[in-house]
Amino acid sequence: MTLDLKPLHPLFAAEASGIDLRSTLGDEDRRAIERAMDRFAVLVFRDQPLDQDQQIAFAKSFGTLDIGLRRANKGPHRFKYDELIDISNVAADGTIAARDSRRIASMVANQLWHSDSSFQQPAARYSMLSAVVLPASGGDTEFADLRAAYDALPEALKASLEGLVTEHYALHSRMMLGTTDWTEEEKTVLPPVRWPLIRTHPGSGRKLLFIGVHAREIIGWTLPEGRLMLSDLLEHATEPRFVYRHRWRVGDLVMWDNRATLHRGRRYDFTERRELRRTTTLDLVEAVA
Ligand SMILES: [Fe+2]
Repeated sequence: MTLDLKPLHPLFAAEASGIDLRSTLGDEDRRAIERAMDRFAVLVFRDQPLDQDQQIAFAKSFGTLDIGLRRANKGPHRFKYDELIDISNVAADGTIAARDSRRIASMVANQLWHSDSSFQQPAARYSMLSAVVLPASGGDTEFADLRAAYDALPEALKASLEGLVTEHYALHSRMMLGTTDWTEEEKTVLPPVRWPLIRTHPGSGRKLLFIGVHAREIIGWTLPEGRLMLSDLLEHATEPRFVYRHRWRVGDLVMWDNRATLHRGRRYDFTERRELRRTTTLDLVEAVA
């Protein structure tokens, strides 16, 4: 089959069709998707409702799967697989989660700009999010192109950022939002990791700004100056000109490259069900020692 691509934004993101994600992916189709990901960084597949087995099988054709924050946030879940990540406001017993629950706190944290699992080594490569139940309004997901953001920086700033290293920490976003009830084990099970601030994407050869809400300091800088720079860069990288907003339909599967983009969920009514399922592959490369 042929992968057809229709751009959704002047810089990145495309609607992809022509491949049935429910059937086993052949090497040729997988490579076509990877090439499209290198170019567009976000692919939207419409009308491809995947069951749990199909989503796991599709994701596994791109590599080893990640379980993300489930390492720190143990406890029961609704799915057949630990590698299916529940992006919903629904508790393990199937009811709408309590407003003061960790699940809702986590859905709030998802509304901050981030790259999935940038707080761990290995971090995430591809995330694949499948829409199962949607609220009547709200709950879009926005994506920002970190390659275009880098390209648009003034040359002097690019030069001054070259070689800098940042530290990413799993609970930084949660702590910023005021969640404090973490045990020592939860705080240490995912220790901070370091990444170059400017990275080169191996598939496209393009440079990009590797930032997001998990980045909490620049190594060798004072905390205030590092955080201000990270905040300024995030503001730049998420200007509307670099952002694609996805309006979900049930049966959509959106796939993005965490090495090249940031994303955030948008506000919705937490008393209405919103259920999406995520699978994520690991990016098996070395962090900064
Ligand atoms: Fe995410």
